[in-house]
Amino acid sequence: MTLNTRPLTPSVGLEVLGVDLRHIDMPQVADLASCLDRASALLVRGQTLTPRELVAFSRRLGTLDEAPVNETGKTVVEGLPELYVVSNIKDANGVAIGSLGAGEAVWHTDMSYLENPPDASALYAIEIPSEGGDTWIAGMAAALDAMPAGLRARIEGRRIKHDGTYNSGGYVRQGVTPTDDPLTAPGALHPAIIQHPRSSREALYLGRRRNAWIEGMERAKSDALLDALWAHATRPEFTYKHRWQVGDLLIWDNRATLHRRDPFDPAARRLMHRTQISGKSIPISA
Ligand code: SIN
Repeated sequence: MTLNTRPLTPSVGLEVLGVDLRHIDMPQVADLASCLDRASALLVRGQTLTPRELVAFSRRLGTLDEAPVNETGKTVVEGLPELYVVSNIKDANGVAIGSLGAGEAVWHTDMSYLENPPDASALYAIEIPSEGGDTWIAGMAAALDAMPAGLRARIEGRRIKHDGTYNSGGYVRQGVTPTDDPLTAPGALHPAIIQHPRSSREALYLGRRRNAWIEGMERAKSDALLDALWAHATRPEFTYKHRWQVGDLLIWDNRATLHRRDPFDPAARRLMHRTQISGKSIPISA
């Protein structure tokens, strides 16, 4: 190990101390990747990354996905198609420069409505409000480890439909017809319990609650079981709440975490840049 780290909580996350991500060497990149495998989320404070430097650092963790089109139909940053802007700030024409506004972003894992979702996401703070806008991470390996056996038995071998209609801010995705029927909604089916391809650790894989459905189950039964799973998965002991400082980079493993964001004052400014490390394989059943 070449990195100095300390746990963020007993169940999820490590803070990596004393590194400048613009200048880390190959052994440190390998250590970062294995810390992420182990802790499912990493915090690195005190960075000064230009958009290009954020993309260059993220690329060292893997191939990057191009940013999805945001709610206003933009793919955003000129010359950097991998960079996604999360912001409530509006341009001179009153159009949001990024996604997700100032409201709550509900618990979710990124883009699991795709067959092959991104392995990890990196979110970098450029402007933050004086209060609100905290980001929460929940560790899904810890949640599965602590799951009552009876609850686990009800989802073993099952698949969950992950909805592609709405994003975590409740906005309808570009080009999608709104629906609240999970059976016909766009999305993907993934195993409810997956195995991490690098650490081999098992994790609960829920995606997002809205429009979710447990394949083959009658709707009311599926909803009741999903509610029980979500209540368990988001228990405080599995979560870390991140209060942002400018220059923080938070990286989470989408195969082992959920995340959400607190709302904040719409009159305040919040500007974050996000990159996503492409999925190397579809989520595999444990
Ligand atoms: C996200 O859900 O990807 C963004 C979270 C945040 O804005 O803190």
